[in-house]
Amino acid sequence: MINRIAKPFLKWAGGKTQLIAEIEKSLPYEITNKKFTYIEPFVGSGAVLFWVLNNFQKLERAVINDINEDLINTYKTIASRPSELISILEILQNEYHALEGNEENKKLYYYQKRNLYNTRKEEQSGQAALFIFLNRTCFNGLYRVNSKNFYNVPMGGYKKPTICDRENILAVSNALQKVEILCGDFEQTLDFANNKSLFYFDPPYKPLSETSSFNSYAKDDFNDNEQIRLKDFCSKLDVLNHSWILSNSDVKGKNINDNFFDDLYSDFKIQRVDARRSINANPEKRGSLKELLITNYANEQALQPA
Ligand SMILES: C[S@@+](CC[C@H](N)C(=O)[O-])C[C@H]1O[C@@H](n2cnc3c(N)ncnc32)[C@H](O)[C@@H]1O
Repeated sequence: MINRIAKPFLKWAGGKTQLIAEIEKSLPYEITNKKFTYIEPFVGSGAVLFWVLNNFQKLERAVINDINEDLINTYKTIASRPSELISILEILQNEYHALEGNEENKKLYYYQKRNLYNTRKEEQSGQAALFIFLNRTCFNGLYRVNSKNFYNVPMGGYKKPTICDRENILAVSNALQKVEILCGDFEQTLDFANNKSLFYFDPPYKPLSETSSFNSYAKDDFNDNEQIRLKDFCSKLDVLNHSWILSNSDVKGKNINDNFFDDLYSDFKIQRVDARRSINANPEKRGSLKELLITNYANEQALQPA
């Protein structure tokens, strides 16, 4: 019996929970009364995905994608083997909680599990359970890997964090039954679009400064050339009559002369909205920053019948 609403099962840099109210205002109004496909090419922890799955009756199908293989393995495991995953997470949670009060042993346990994860030799659900364990116990819920794809985030300071949220895993598993789960580059999602598709893009944000970069989610960096490649992809979708909404950092808010996104997306509608960043190592910097929401439609034109 599943009686919970599915919500993100991970903490994730750039998690979009704070931006949902703004995204809602910017969605094409037709999605409330016409069938549509939702496509999220940079899904991360899926804050917007779960909100869409929970709130739009007319959603026919959804497609999610991310380049992070370990993340996608976790989505696939939740979708297909939730009970097996829950059993492993319960063991990890019991073992870890039993060490509370003994920092040395807790640390040993954390680093032992991190090493095991980095061997990537566990079977599918064991690897997914380690992914969730590390996400719940590491410093600030960060996912950062080195050039060899070794996860290298230190242990966090949480007391008895929830590692196994059984009800939510079951709710997520249920919600994922109408979702196609892909792993790879964002461009592959075009093959899964139909003529009533809405794309939401939440790429790794362009850093506001050299030191503010938290975009090492995967072993390859998302640099300016990647931002340009993404814009070219968005232009292609526009020509093909798909609707899209994209979020990114407002680099102009930091440096008034920085017109990178204003120039890149000059053919489209750019809004500046308030959004609180949820992951920042420095609490002082968790204040209110503007972010960009860019769409290829004025709300009344989107998703018209082809
Ligand atoms: C800003 S995060 C998305 C955050 C997400 N909206 C959330 O609510 O958690 C960006 C995601 O893009 C993924 N990514 C990076 N490069 C990619 C690429 N070329 N194609 C697809 N995904 C990519 C990263 O692995 C990361 O999960």
